[in-house]
Amino acid sequence: MLHIPMRENHSAQASTKAVILVGGPSRGTRFRPLSLDVPKPLFEVAGHPIIHHCLKAVAKVPDVREVILVGYYDESVFRDFIKDASKEFPQLRILYLREYTALGTAGGLYHFRDAILKGKPERLLVLNADVCCSFPLGEMMRLFEEKDAEAVILGTRVSNDTATNFGCIVSDSHTKRVLHYVEKPESHISNLINCGVYLFATECIFPAIRSAIKRRTTRPRLLSYPSSDNLESSFIATGDDDDAEKSEVLRLEQDILSDLADSNRFFVHETKDFWRQIKSAGSAVPANALYLQKAFQAESPELTAPSATIVPPVYIHPTASIDPTAKLGPNVSIGPRVVVGAGARIKDSIVLEDSEIRHDACVMHSIIGWSSRVGAWARVEGTPIPVGSHSTSIVKQGIKVQSITILGKECGVGDEVRVQNCVCLPYKELKRDVSNEVIM
Ligand code: GDD
Repeated sequence: MLHIPMRENHSAQASTKAVILVGGPSRGTRFRPLSLDVPKPLFEVAGHPIIHHCLKAVAKVPDVREVILVGYYDESVFRDFIKDASKEFPQLRILYLREYTALGTAGGLYHFRDAILKGKPERLLVLNADVCCSFPLGEMMRLFEEKDAEAVILGTRVSNDTATNFGCIVSDSHTKRVLHYVEKPESHISNLINCGVYLFATECIFPAIRSAIKRRTTRPRLLSYPSSDNLESSFIATGDDDDAEKSEVLRLEQDILSDLADSNRFFVHETKDFWRQIKSAGSAVPANALYLQKAFQAESPELTAPSATIVPPVYIHPTASIDPTAKLGPNVSIGPRVVVGAGARIKDSIVLEDSEIRHDACVMHSIIGWSSRVGAWARVEGTPIPVGSHSTSIVKQGIKVQSITILGKECGVGDEVRVQNCVCLPYKELKRDVSNEVIM
C-alpha cells in the first residue's frame, strides 16, 4: 500500500512539464527493416516524425513550457529534430536526456527527477512515443482538476481478444476511478486498456517510484517484464538503499500503476477517438491514415487539395513531382523528391524520400523505402487491415505474414513484377513475382 502525501489544491495556473519516452536502439526491433535506417521515433507518418505528432499535442497545453525527450539513443539522434521543433514551437524548451542504459519507463523518469522537477512543476505529462492518437490532453487535465487527482491515465476500449496485449484497467464507470490495473494480464480482466499517456501530480509520482524502489530492496526478485518488445529487465537487490537507487530498471506499468490504483485518486479518461500502437513497421500505415484523416478534418493546409486524381486525405511534400495523370489516395503520404509517373495508382501507402514510382505502377497498403524504385506496370501491394484491428499480421495459406508490404531502403522492383505481402530488406532487387515472403 502506498503512502502518498495529500496535495494542497493547486491553482488553475499550476505548471506542467512533459516527458516523451522515446526508448532506444535496442527497442523497436519489430519496426525493422525501417528502423535499420531511421530511429523509430523519427520515422515520418503523415509528413512528420512520429514524435512530432506527440509534441504538437503537448504544445497545445497552455501551461507546458518544457518538454523532455527521455531515451537511450545517442545524443546526436534528436539534435536536428529538436532544432526544427524549437523553431516551430518557440514557447517550448525541448531537450533530450539520455539514459546510460535502458532504465525502464519509470527508471528514466526517476533518474532525471532533478531535471524534471526543476522549476517545481506541479504536474507531469508522460507520453509513450510509440502511440498514435488524438492525445486528448485537455480533457485529461480537466478530469485531473475536477477530481483533484494524483494520476490520470488515458484509456480506450479494444476487442476482448486483444486486450491482454496491453495494460488493462478496471474502473468505476460512474466515478472514472481506477480500481485495479494489471499489465498484460494472462487472462481477460477488462477491455479498457492503457493508451500509454499519463498525467501525474509530481509530488505523488516521484514518492511512488521511490516506494517501489524501496519495496524492491526488501522484496528482492529477478524481473522479466512482459513488454511487447520482450525487454528483459533485471534488478538485483542488495539490501542497500544506495544500490537500490542505482539499479533503476523500473517500469511504470508493472511497478507503479497497480499501487496507484490503491490510492483512490487515480482516474481514467476513456477516449472514443482513434488510438493505435506503432510497433511493427506495418503499423506506420494505419497511423499514417489516422493522422492524415485528423489533418483532413482539421482542414490542414499541409494536405493536397482534392481533385479528380487526388482522393483525400493525401500529403505530398512540396519537392515531390507527381504526373497529373497519376491517381493518389486516400491515405497516402509522399516524401521529399519522390517522382510518380503517368498513370500510376497509389493508395493507403507511404512513399519515402527520393523514391520513384514509374508509369502505370500500382502501390497499395505498402511502404516504399528511401530511394527505392517501383518499375513500370509493377504492383506492390499488401492486404487492407480491418478497421479497428490492432494487429498488422494476417494468416495466408496457413502462414503468418505482414499485411503491409514493406520495401527497405534502395530496393528495386522490376517492370511488371508483382510483390504481395512481403517484407523486403534494404538494397534488394526484385526481378520476379513474390508473395508472403521476407526477402533477405
Ligand atoms: N526512456 C525510455 N527508457 N523509454 C522506454 C524504455 C526505457 O528503458 N523502455 C520503453 N520505453 C518507451 C518505448 O519507447 C515506448 O515509447 C514506451 O516506453 C512503452 O514501451 P514498452 O515498454 O515496449 O511497452 P509496451 O508498448 O509493450 O506497452 C506499453 O504501452 C501500451 C500502449 O501502447 C504499456 O504501457 C501498456 O500498458 C500499454 O497498453
